Amino acid sequence: MKSTATFRKMKEEQEPIAMMTAYDAPSAKAAERAGMDIILVGDSAGMVVHGYDSTIPVTLEDMLLHSKAVRRGAPDTFTVADLPFLTYGGEIGETLSAVRQLMQAGGVQAVKLEGGGRMLSIIGLLTEAGVPVMAHLGLTPQSVGVIGGYKVQGKTKEEAERLVRESQEAEKQGAFALVLECVPWQLAAHISSLLTIPVIGIGAGGKTDGQVLVFHDAVGYTDGFVPKFAKQYANIQETIVHALETYVGEVKESVFPEERHIFKMDEETADSLYGGMKPE
Ligand code: KIV
Repeated sequence: MKSTATFRKMKEEQEPIAMMTAYDAPSAKAAERAGMDIILVGDSAGMVVHGYDSTIPVTLEDMLLHSKAVRRGAPDTFTVADLPFLTYGGEIGETLSAVRQLMQAGGVQAVKLEGGGRMLSIIGLLTEAGVPVMAHLGLTPQSVGVIGGYKVQGKTKEEAERLVRESQEAEKQGAFALVLECVPWQLAAHISSLLTIPVIGIGAGGKTDGQVLVFHDAVGYTDGFVPKFAKQYANIQETIVHALETYVGEVKESVFPEERHIFKMDEETADSLYGGMKPE
């Protein structure tokens, strides 16, 4: 399995890092088979799996269930889990307990937390305690209420300078990688060139050290909305709807199940019990 040291080396050798979210065993298995470098058990699960309109309602219990499923599906891929809303920034004991559960019971190798300012010192505390932490700056969806919507960050001089400072502080505090979400590509390129830890972008252009996408956006398993920054590599939703329509039709027309889908008892027993009954 790759490690935090592998990712740093990949940056040094300019080998781009491919990361994707996964929330269950089959999607994690697909990511592992595809050669994903890192899997993120994102709290975006709240939106793409559970149908909430933000990541705020996602609980530690939710993240634990998703993490366990992902680890079963991708036992050989380095996996990071999001610390859910308000499990950090308050009592450090509560944060340590959340991290312990995600790493020990959930089986993930690292955690990710959002935000700059005071949040950055939590990276230091966790790193000191032996926890690999991925920082997340730019658009931080858990703060959507404060930011006032899902907007591009770092467009002004002041905002850009603050993000540069916070990125450097995240590295100083010991983060092993940084996710930069929805920032102008020039700013992301600048931060990537300043830091020695890998910068993984989402909506941050092509000059970061890696990319991350949400699984459902990448495979087209959504209700139609795909963010501007996401590329849809397949349209699984259409494939699924087509399959289900075919199934409904076959049930209505008694085409399914076919001979190869049914179980039989030996003919003598069947005849004695049910006469000459035929399967179709
Ligand atoms: O929860 C998530 O999926 C994320 C990615 C958008 C980076 O944090």
